[in-house]
Amino acid sequence: MNGYTIDKERLLASVAGLAGNEVLIVGDVMVDEYLMGDAERISPEAPVPVVHVTEDRHLVGGAGNVARNVRTLGGVPRLISVCGTGTRAALLRRVLDNEGIEPQLVEIPGRPTTIKTRVIARQQQMLRIDREDASPVGGVHLDRLLALVQDALADTRVVVVSDYGKGIVTASFMERLSAMCAASSTRPLILVDPKTPNFHLYKGVHMLTPNTKETSEGAGLPAGNREQIRAAAAAIFRKLDCEHLLTTLGPQGMALFMTPDDAWHVPTVAQKVYDVTGAGDTVIATVGLCLASGLPLLESCILANYAAGIVVGQVGAATASPDELRHAIATLDVPQVNRWQ
Ligand SMILES: Nc1ncnc2c1ncn2[C@@H]1O[C@H](COP(=O)(O)OP(=O)(O)OP(=O)(O)O)[C@@H](O)[C@H]1O
Ligand SMILES: [Mg+2]
Repeated sequence: MNGYTIDKERLLASVAGLAGNEVLIVGDVMVDEYLMGDAERISPEAPVPVVHVTEDRHLVGGAGNVARNVRTLGGVPRLISVCGTGTRAALLRRVLDNEGIEPQLVEIPGRPTTIKTRVIARQQQMLRIDREDASPVGGVHLDRLLALVQDALADTRVVVVSDYGKGIVTASFMERLSAMCAASSTRPLILVDPKTPNFHLYKGVHMLTPNTKETSEGAGLPAGNREQIRAAAAAIFRKLDCEHLLTTLGPQGMALFMTPDDAWHVPTVAQKVYDVTGAGDTVIATVGLCLASGLPLLESCILANYAAGIVVGQVGAATASPDELRHAIATLDVPQVNRWQ
C-alpha cells in the first residue's frame, strides 16, 4: 500500500477528542517583546534614530509558544521551565497568565529571564535586544526542575522537550528525564524539537521533529532532495536510536519516518503563506496533544500538518483552534499522503 486514504469524518472526530488531554512541556521559555513606534528624528546624544514608542506588545515564545498551541487546541499544557527573579520574571508570568497558562518555573537568582526585544518603526526592525544566559542549568536548579517533572509524570502520556538552546537541555537533563520516563507507570513518550548543537543528547527518544536544515546538521549530511533526506534520516536513527523521526519540510509539508525504511510524505495544506514563524512549535504541540489523546502517529502528524497549514496563513506566531482545524479538514482537498519510495 503506497497511499494512505484520509477519512475526513474520522479526522473530524479526532479533533473533538483532543479536548482536556494533558501534555507536559519542558524547555526554554521566553518573552518576545515588540516595541513599536515612529522614528522621526535623530538623537542629540548620538547619531542614532529616536524611536517614540506608541505600542508595547509581549508574546510568549519558545516552550511557552508550544504550551500556547496546546491550549488553543483545547488541551491542557503543563509547562515546566526556569526563569530569573524580579520584574522580568513577573513579566514572563503575566504574559503566560494572559494565555491561560499556569507554569511551574524554577526561579534562579542572578539568571536573566530570557527576553527578546525588537524595536520596530515604520514596519522595519531597527534593533534587537537579547537578555539571556544560555549557560547549562545544573546543580540544585536542575534537581528542582526534575522534581517538578517527576510530580507531573504520574498523569502524563506525552512529554514535549522544546529545546531552544537556552540551557535546560543538557546531557544530565536528557539522561535523567529518560530514566524517569522509563520508570514511570504511564510510560510517557518523549518528543523533542531539537537544537542542532544538542543533537547527540536525544538518545532513544520516541520522536524528534527537526526541520530540513536541522535534519541535515544533525546527521552531518546534506538534505537537499528526497534521497539525501532519507539518508540523513537513516543516519539520525543510527546515531540516536530514536523510534521515529518527523522532518518538517517547510513548503513541502513533512516526512514521517516510522522507521528509516518506512517513510510517509504529507504535503502542506496551506492556501496562503504570510508568516511561518512558530510553525515548528505548532507541529510538535499538535502531534503531542494528538498522541496524548490516543491517536496513531500518522494521523497525529496529518492533523499537525493541517494545524501548521493554518498558522502559516496568519500573521505572527499564530495558533490553530479546533474550529479552524475542523473547517480546514471539511473544506480543503485532503492532502495526498504517500509512501516516500
Ligand atoms: N512556506 C510554507 N508553505 C506551506 N507550508 C509551510 C511553509 N512553511 C512551513 N509550513 C508548514 O509548517 C510546518 C513546519 O514548518 P517548518 O518546516 O518551516 O518548521 P520549522 O523550521 O521548525 O519552523 P520554526 O521556524 O517554527 O522553527 C511544515 O511541516 C508545513 O506544514
Ligand atoms: Mg523549528
